[in-house]
Amino acid sequence: MTARNFPESFLWGSATAAYQIEGAATEDGRGPSIWDTYSHTTPGRTLNGDTGDVAADHYHRWPQDLDHLAELGLGAYRFSISWPRVQPGGSGRFNPAGLDFYARLVDGLLERGIRPVATMYHWDLPQELEDAGGWPARDTALRFEEYAAGIVGALGDRVHTWTTLNEPWCSAYLGYGSGVHAPGRTEPAAALAAVHHLNLAHGLAGRVVRELTPSAELSVTLNLHVVRGASGSAADADAVRRIDALANRAFLGPMLDGAYPADLLADTAAVTDWSFVRPGDEKLIAVPLDVLGVNYYSSTLVRAWDGHSARSAADGHGASVHSPWVGAEDVDFLPQPGPYTAMGWNIDPPAFTELLVRLGRDHPGQPLMITENGAAFDDVVSADGRIHDDRRIDYLRRHIGAVADARALGVDVRGYFVWSLLDNFEWGYGYDRRFGIIHVDYDTQERRWKDSAHWYRRLVATGQLDG
Ligand code: FCB
Repeated sequence: MTARNFPESFLWGSATAAYQIEGAATEDGRGPSIWDTYSHTTPGRTLNGDTGDVAADHYHRWPQDLDHLAELGLGAYRFSISWPRVQPGGSGRFNPAGLDFYARLVDGLLERGIRPVATMYHWDLPQELEDAGGWPARDTALRFEEYAAGIVGALGDRVHTWTTLNEPWCSAYLGYGSGVHAPGRTEPAAALAAVHHLNLAHGLAGRVVRELTPSAELSVTLNLHVVRGASGSAADADAVRRIDALANRAFLGPMLDGAYPADLLADTAAVTDWSFVRPGDEKLIAVPLDVLGVNYYSSTLVRAWDGHSARSAADGHGASVHSPWVGAEDVDFLPQPGPYTAMGWNIDPPAFTELLVRLGRDHPGQPLMITENGAAFDDVVSADGRIHDDRRIDYLRRHIGAVADARALGVDVRGYFVWSLLDNFEWGYGYDRRFGIIHVDYDTQERRWKDSAHWYRRLVATGQLDG
């Protein structure tokens, strides 16, 4: 029988990100980020032209939102700090009003007995830094080090865990490869330079955390892909290897093993010579992590394209004629069997276990934290005023079960953060996709617990999965 009980020490939390919930885009000295620019670009880069201008108005409603966390009984809250709110322009002067907002948020969490887990970068690069070259430019990593020193200096001793980056895969490949995320550039070589400078930014900021606040925990959050081949052919196996290199080992390699994988460099040699990696960089990136953050939603099925049959390009990362899979444009991504979430993502809990087991095997001694997992569905407010989101409950139950399975196999997973606390601005999909366990009425900003929130509260209280 599979173990389904989580110990008292298992950390239960919920996650959000600044641009997705805060709003107040021009208030109290906040500067523009690449997501402000991108979402305001017409014709719409985002569904319905939605922007994060108001979002869930968390900037003004944060005390109530923290009350919801407390009522849910959560031990931790993962939020992100908006770089352009605390350091408009991305270099030099810090904005006291911006720092103050996060100081109050952190204090509010501590007062409620909730552990603050702060992400330094959840995709909202100050626009000025993009104008100066963005992540493909090395200087952006140095600016990030300066920003990290400012926020760790201001909040360091009160933040339990610092997470340098959220999903650098998305920042690099969707931002600079396929262009479905801000800043919307489609330059393959720039995407790989962005990979490296994000990794470098992680290493530099990680060292800042170690120096300024040795008692805080250090982490990074990666969206690792579980990549499977359509057949057992050698060509499909090679497609899996190449996608695994771009998706996973481009980050795990330097961060955990201190080096880029040789096959990644060889596979992408026609795109770039990687001369932006300077001597000493890889060593710097490999700053020891207290926990590795893992985000998981769905799995990936690939085949080597035969050069003539119709292609599916069903990688779940949005529609663009430009592939985010730099140097592997000839790999095809196949649709998978359903059911699917409202994102069109397949539901595959065993792949989650598989991912965690692989990490446990390849990186023994590295504790893991699930920093995001959750699902969007077309929620309806029923006549009884409630949101009966049974499919979300089922999704969460099965994925948390997958975490329990991995733990039973000896994988050191320390906690789980559901994505997301609130419905919010889902990037290119705007407000059309709802991931919250708490519903947000965007006309009134009223919060309403979905059935999944009630279900999650019971799980958190008992550590026991039902069903
Ligand atoms: C992740 C992001 C998060 C949210 C979820 C659905 O890629 O980190 O902000 O959009 O997907």
